[in-house]
Amino acid sequence: MVQFQLNGAKIQTDVEKNLLSFLRNDMGIKSVKDGCSEGACGTCSVLINGASKRACTQKVQKLDGKQIITIEGLSDYEKQVYAYCFAKAGAVQCGFCIPGMVISAKALIDKNSNPTESEIAKALVGNICRCTGYKKIIEAIKNVAHFVREEKPVIKNKTSAKILEDILRPDSYSKTLGTGKYTDDLELPDMLYASAVRSKYPRAIVEDFDLTEALQHPDTIKIITAHDVPGNNKAGHIVKDWDTLIAKGDTTRYVGDAIVLVVSKKEESLDEIKHLVKIKYTELKPIANPQMALEENAPKIHETGNVLRHDRVVRGKNIEDIFEKSKYVVSHTYHTPFTEHAYMEPECAVCKYDSDDLTLYTSGQNIFDEQREVAHILGLDVDRIHVISMLVGGGFGGKEDMSVQHHAALASYLTKRNVKVRLTRQESINVSTKRHAMTIEMTTACDEDGKLTGMKASILSDTGAYASLGGPVVQRACTHAGGPYKYDSVDIDGKAVYTNNPPGGAFRGFGVTQSCFATESNINLLAEMVGISPWELRYKNAIEPKGILPNGQKADESTAFKECLMAVKDIYENNDGAGIAAALKNTGLGVGVPDTGRCIASISDGKVHIRTGAARIGQGLDSVILQMTCHTLDIEPDLIVIESPNTKRTPNSGTTTASRQTMFTGHAVVEACSKIKELLNKGKTLMELDGQEFYGEYICVTDLITSTKEHPYSHAGYSYGVQVVELDDKGKVEKVHAVYDVGQLINRKNAEGQVEGGIVMGLGYALTEDFPLEGCVPKVKYGTLGLFRATQMPEMYVDFVSRDFRSDIAYGAKGLGEIATIPTAPAVAGAYYKRDSKHRTKLPLEDTAYRK
Ligand code: FES
Ligand code: FES
Repeated sequence: MVQFQLNGAKIQTDVEKNLLSFLRNDMGIKSVKDGCSEGACGTCSVLINGASKRACTQKVQKLDGKQIITIEGLSDYEKQVYAYCFAKAGAVQCGFCIPGMVISAKALIDKNSNPTESEIAKALVGNICRCTGYKKIIEAIKNVAHFVREEKPVIKNKTSAKILEDILRPDSYSKTLGTGKYTDDLELPDMLYASAVRSKYPRAIVEDFDLTEALQHPDTIKIITAHDVPGNNKAGHIVKDWDTLIAKGDTTRYVGDAIVLVVSKKEESLDEIKHLVKIKYTELKPIANPQMALEENAPKIHETGNVLRHDRVVRGKNIEDIFEKSKYVVSHTYHTPFTEHAYMEPECAVCKYDSDDLTLYTSGQNIFDEQREVAHILGLDVDRIHVISMLVGGGFGGKEDMSVQHHAALASYLTKRNVKVRLTRQESINVSTKRHAMTIEMTTACDEDGKLTGMKASILSDTGAYASLGGPVVQRACTHAGGPYKYDSVDIDGKAVYTNNPPGGAFRGFGVTQSCFATESNINLLAEMVGISPWELRYKNAIEPKGILPNGQKADESTAFKECLMAVKDIYENNDGAGIAAALKNTGLGVGVPDTGRCIASISDGKVHIRTGAARIGQGLDSVILQMTCHTLDIEPDLIVIESPNTKRTPNSGTTTASRQTMFTGHAVVEACSKIKELLNKGKTLMELDGQEFYGEYICVTDLITSTKEHPYSHAGYSYGVQVVELDDKGKVEKVHAVYDVGQLINRKNAEGQVEGGIVMGLGYALTEDFPLEGCVPKVKYGTLGLFRATQMPEMYVDFVSRDFRSDIAYGAKGLGEIATIPTAPAVAGAYYKRDSKHRTKLPLEDTAYRK
């Protein structure tokens, strides 16, 4: 029995568990988050005798006599100050890391009331943030110290919350203080817990399984096999090839494959029961890479064969003739690795059972995809599945596929009970999708003046065990492989190939992160051959309004790529050691895929309720929606309620992917609100409109990738960006300058935060993050992924440029989420090339100050 103080209250307990589990499960303190349970992420930070400690590594029985404080134990004044300063700085995105950051900040400020930025960064070294790039968190903490030192009261200025106004992000208070609910924070009465037994081998025949002992465990409620799946065992948003559970006699495709689903009364006994499940396998040699998969006699991973998708983008004259006539030709093969999304919140779903309906609480990227997939697996009408989005602790593309949602629904449906399924951090790493590893052979040519003449690329994408979004990803790698430049001819071939590796899926940049590394690296070499600066070669060939993009589409009037380049010209040209890279990225699904943003604005009690199913994964969509609503209606922000995605209340506004929500959902919001505005202009009041609903929609019809039009309309829009990277004397990244054209800015602080977070993710991709596999088995833990920490941050300078032209869609806003990350890796590679003249063709870059 131990006795300690928790937030000022005396606690006596004899439980034998770690402090994290005690706080969350026994005490109901949910501000303390479980990001890894391995001591590697800092989301579970608490104060123990004034020092910031990770609750997951503390045994309750060792805490005798200690004082423990969580955010709930902060004074009211401290709560106000932290919440205000984090909101004011724009430091909160998905929010999952923030309560832990607050605790580490308090530990510092209680001892040092005027910390420097580097002291703050050191205090945060154990707290990972995957979203923000730390800059705004450090700024927020500096401001907290200032408030606390001066005992300043918190006074919030009123704003009208119109476009470009500096607002306090609507979701930041609850995320900072840990009162906002993520899926794992949800507890339902008599809830059961389920977890899958995963394949021991990446490729093996499941000959038999013996469930006898597992069924005898006193906590076992049910063990579910593929045979029990009432509808269709195979799921998948585009290609239905992903087994919910691998059936007896079938062959596994990767180590993340679920074979049986164990349902237990207690979360703690899941592992014990899983160990009692006996599975007999016949192990087969795995297919470790696309080259093996394409061998003539390679076994088929799926019945359809090993090629998921093959795309070609060809424009202009015969590419070999172009190369023949070009003065300079450069050719290299580039390799990019799998990358783990490493969102701070591991996957979790809770399913509530009642006889008519299943209500699924999730943290995915589209509730309607989840609804459709679950209904398909259970063989039920979609109306029987009701999906509600909780807060989402980061996604970056990795929460588009089914991971836990279908298992929670299946277990709930079959047991007729409420069920939670949560992946451990290691399961998340082993099971979830990754950024595709690619091999890119690229040849680029120009004339004697540096005018680009042609580009040829062959892209081989490792799509792993299942299709996921592997088809569109390789397609986007192809359509963007030319970069934002004009060529006479391009000839690009892309293949996505199944292997027994973890599935490749959507990941911020969606194939363009990979191809941009090759494109921009070749461009630098051409500039050297011509004898002009890499900046100049880019400027000479830059896409302008009405220019023809490598995919044949005409660039629209908003295109401000040259303006981006001009904005970094002096910084780059006056710094001999700097690297530069540029990118373009589509907004919206495009290429003929139906793409619609939807919103219902309904009036209730004199307030405008904005209802849209668009997922908020930390990117700041609530602010965008609020500001577009206020701008359109010209009413006080207090009169607006933004509802969370809910299949019964909010219309389907498509997936949060392809940097599309600001434009697609944003314009749907504007459309719906414009209808209200018309009535307000006629003298109606909101009270008089009570009970009415107004619908807004934005549909973008685009041409198929196979279109034979000379200038197909492939995408709703394109954003452009340039980054310049400077290294210090030791070869570490010292400064990153980023300038973007994203059309009309809606909220500058949020946009800066997206770019800063994107840069840091890009730095990890360039320098430190890897996903080693041995025989198709991941050999990495959260703590060894190579994620950047607060102490590793360079200075970041972010700016935006645009032309006067604004489209009439979403006030002229274009996408930003993905392009923030895309140019960083080649810009870093360019800086190292300047330093040591080594042309690096593999990520993460070798022989740097980060990796020897
Ligand atoms: S949950 Fe404790 S450090 Fe990650
Ligand atoms: S805001 Fe830090 S992990 Fe998302």
